[in-house]
Amino acid sequence: FLFSLQRKSIVAVSFIAAFLCLIIVRLTNEVTFPLILNCFGQTSVKWIPFSNGQRQPLRAHYGYINVKTQEPLQLDCDLCAIVSNSGQMAGQKVGAEIDKSSCIWRMNNAPTKGYEEDVGKRTTVRVVSHTSVPLLLKNPEYFFKETNTTVYVIWGPFRNMRKDGNGIVYNMLKKTVDSYPAAKIYVTTEKRMSYCDAVFKKETGKDR
Ligand SMILES: *[C@@H]1O[C@H](CO)[C@@H](O)[C@H](O)[C@H]1NC(C)=O
Repeated sequence: FLFSLQRKSIVAVSFIAAFLCLIIVRLTNEVTFPLILNCFGQTSVKWIPFSNGQRQPLRAHYGYINVKTQEPLQLDCDLCAIVSNSGQMAGQKVGAEIDKSSCIWRMNNAPTKGYEEDVGKRTTVRVVSHTSVPLLLKNPEYFFKETNTTVYVIWGPFRNMRKDGNGIVYNMLKKTVDSYPAAKIYVTTEKRMSYCDAVFKKETGKDR
């Protein structure tokens, strides 16, 4: 009887020890298990310990790939402000409220300079269509140097975004990250693009 009790407690203690080990390794070394997490879908949660005094999940978004590093986009958003670039934003005076959001999304080259009172001044992500990339490239010092904490997510059809040297927009972006190494530019994968096109069609009944 004593022998079996001892064996049971050893087994229990080893299980608890292994579990604690896993938790400690996970919290201290930013260990992720991308393959396991991948099984659960598009995104994974990565825990970065002790940032801003608390642990914040960083989500990896595998549909958006960094032009320079080929790494997936990682975002840490809580409350998002998605700001329209419509002229109707003029005179709204909601800049301060927008700037309180943890992530602020803007479209294409929508300006903030001179309109801070209406639209705010922080920009976390700019979602940019392939047709608007030349507009950003008219002012690269501002978009890719001065505001280098902004993440640029570029979307467009595969013919323009292909990476084999024939994607006209991808080539422009590649040149940009060569000239502005601090620029955080991501392109949408072909798979993600088809998914977004399908959502668009479902909601509007139209092909993009
Ligand atoms: C990033 O932006 C800051 C603030 O505008 C600027 O001082 C710095 O030179 C930029 N860094 C690079 C590498 O461009």
